[in-house]
Amino acid sequence: MNFSIRLTVNGVRHDVELDDPRVTLLDLLRERLDLTGTKKGCDRGQCGACTVLVDGRRVNSCLALAVSHDGADVVTIEGVSRGDQLHPVQAAFIAHDGFQCGFCTPGQIMSAIGLIQEAQTGDDPERIREAMSGNLCRCGAYAGITEAVLEARQSLASSNQRRSA
Ligand code: FES
Ligand code: FES
Repeated sequence: MNFSIRLTVNGVRHDVELDDPRVTLLDLLRERLDLTGTKKGCDRGQCGACTVLVDGRRVNSCLALAVSHDGADVVTIEGVSRGDQLHPVQAAFIAHDGFQCGFCTPGQIMSAIGLIQEAQTGDDPERIREAMSGNLCRCGAYAGITEAVLEARQSLASSNQRRSA
């Protein structure tokens, strides 16, 4: 039996036929849509390398069944920059050395973008660390990651203020 689903990924609509209801959103993104920026670390919800935004919320795509997300709006790391202009979170990760090998970085960045949109942490580094705790980094770049999230949060807040002034 085949399942038809429609997803919007990074603003582009995709009609996808699945021949297995167990296909995860992660495998669909990587293997069907060639969006390999989203990484498969553990494939069991423990590392956060596969984090994407689904309808604006952070999701471990290795735990998400694609068939359950018919009609969803998905954003992956490939969809956050505007042409050559990096997303403020991407720029802050570079500025603060928020990575070493880079394997966890797409998931960290998507999680940070979701966290900033959730607006729950304020400028408290401890709360940011806690809110990012589902994203593991084998290289231990946590100090830079926290600084990057803090800076990006502040720069996005000031550009929102300028826009609404
Ligand atoms: Fe999904 Fe590790 S690959 S949480
Ligand atoms: Fe290497 Fe995080 S930068 S795992």
